[in-house]
Amino acid sequence: MKKVGFTETVLRDANQSQIATRLPFEKFAPILETMDKAGYYSVECWGGATFDSCLRFLDEDPWERLRKIREKMPNTKLQMLLRGQNLLGYKHYPDDVVRKFIQHSVSNGINIIRIFDALNDTRNIRVAMEEAVKCGAEASATISYTTSPVHSIENYVKTVKEMEKLGASSICIKDMAGVMTPQEAFDLVKAIKETVKLPVVVHTHCTAGLAYMTVLKAVEAGADVIDTAISCFSGGTSQPATESLHFALSQMGYDTGLDQSVIKSIKDFFLPIRDEYIESGLLDPIVLTTDSDCLNYQIPGGMLSNLINQLKALNAIDRFNDVLAETPRVRADLGYPPLVTPMSQMVGVQATQNVLNGERYKTVTKEVKAYVRGEYGKAPGKIDKEVAAKILDGEKPIQGRFADTLEPLFEKTKAELGDKARSDEDVLSYIAFPQVAEKFFEKRAEKENRKASYFIERID
Ligand code: CO
Repeated sequence: MKKVGFTETVLRDANQSQIATRLPFEKFAPILETMDKAGYYSVECWGGATFDSCLRFLDEDPWERLRKIREKMPNTKLQMLLRGQNLLGYKHYPDDVVRKFIQHSVSNGINIIRIFDALNDTRNIRVAMEEAVKCGAEASATISYTTSPVHSIENYVKTVKEMEKLGASSICIKDMAGVMTPQEAFDLVKAIKETVKLPVVVHTHCTAGLAYMTVLKAVEAGADVIDTAISCFSGGTSQPATESLHFALSQMGYDTGLDQSVIKSIKDFFLPIRDEYIESGLLDPIVLTTDSDCLNYQIPGGMLSNLINQLKALNAIDRFNDVLAETPRVRADLGYPPLVTPMSQMVGVQATQNVLNGERYKTVTKEVKAYVRGEYGKAPGKIDKEVAAKILDGEKPIQGRFADTLEPLFEKTKAELGDKARSDEDVLSYIAFPQVAEKFFEKRAEKENRKASYFIERID
C-alpha cells in the first residue's frame, strides 16, 4: 500500500495563520494525549511565531511549553519551524547561538526541525542543519517556494542538490503564501524525486483556494508527507483539513496512518475553541475565506492578517488595497525575495511606508537597509539599482556570509545576564527577544513572589 504521512499544524501554523498565534498552552493541553494516538507522521507544535508569542503575549515560557507538550505526547514526532541563521527572530545570529538553540530545542523534545532561509541561500541553513543532525534530530531542509521571473524548477533542483550534500533528512517545499498551483506542485515534486532519494514534504496554505488540489497532485507525484490542519482550524489562510485529505487519500488507496475516530475527537475538542475566537473577534472571518488576489500579491496567510491589524491600528485600513498593490512592486525592486518571515514583514512594512508617506523609499527600515547590504544573504534576483542607491546612500554591500562577521554571543550574554537567567534556555530566549524576554523574566519573578506571599499568609 502506498503511504502518505500527515503533519498536523493546528498548534503552530494554523494557530499562527488564523488567530495570530494566541493559543495558550492551557487551551490545548487537554487534547494532547489524544493527539498522541492519532497516527500523525508528526505534529508541528513549536517554532515559527509561537516562541515570540509565548513570551510577548501569553506569559508562557516557550521552552516549558515544549517540555509539557513532550510529556503529554511521548509517541509522536514533535516538529518545529526554524528560520536557519535567523532562528526564530528577525536577524542573523552567530553560529554558537544557532548551535545552542538547536541543542536545547532537541533536548527539550523536538524531533524534526524544518529549516528554511527566506532567500533560499543555503549558506544560511548549513550550520542549523549540521547541528540538528549531530543532535539526532531530522533536518528537514526547506525550499521557500515562490514564483517570479527569477525562480524556476531548475533553480529549485539545484538548491535541493546542495541541501542533500548538507545532510538533509528530507526536503520540504514550503509554499507559505499558498500560491503553488497543482501543476507546479506536481512538476516540482517529480523533479525533486528524480534528483534525490529523500522524502519530500509539502506545505501550503488554502489562501488562494488551491491547496487541496495542490496537495493531491503533490501526492500523485510522490510526495511522502503533507501538512494539514484539523478541520475547524483549516482553510482560508491555514492548511487544508486533515479529515478531508485523510478521507480522499484513503479512498484512493493510500495508507495515511491516521485513526479516523481519534481525529474526529480532536476536531470535536477544537470546535468550541474556534467558535470562542470567532465570538471574541480574534478570529477574523476574512482569514477563513478564499482570496484569489494572493495569486497576484503573494501575501502569505500570516502576513495578510498582520497587515490588516497594522493598518487598523494606524487607522488606515482604507489604504489596504493600495498597500496590497504596492507590495509586489517593492518585492520586484528588492530582487524577488520570497515573502516569508522576515522578508514578508520587511516588504509589508516597506510597502505600507511607501503608500502612507506618499513617496517611495522616503523612509526605509534598518532591516530593509541591511537586506540591501547583503546581510540576509544573496537576493534571488537583482536588486533595482536606483532603489539600492537611494537606500544604501553611499554604504557598501558586504561580501561573504554575514554570520561569519558576527562574534560568538552565548557565553558573553550568559555572563552579562547573571542570575536574571535561570537556565541556558533563558539565555537563548533573551538573545532571541531581549526586551520581551526581560519583561517576561520580571513578570515570572513577580508571579512567584505573589505565590510565595500567598502561601506565607496561609501558613501564618
Ligand atoms: Co505556513
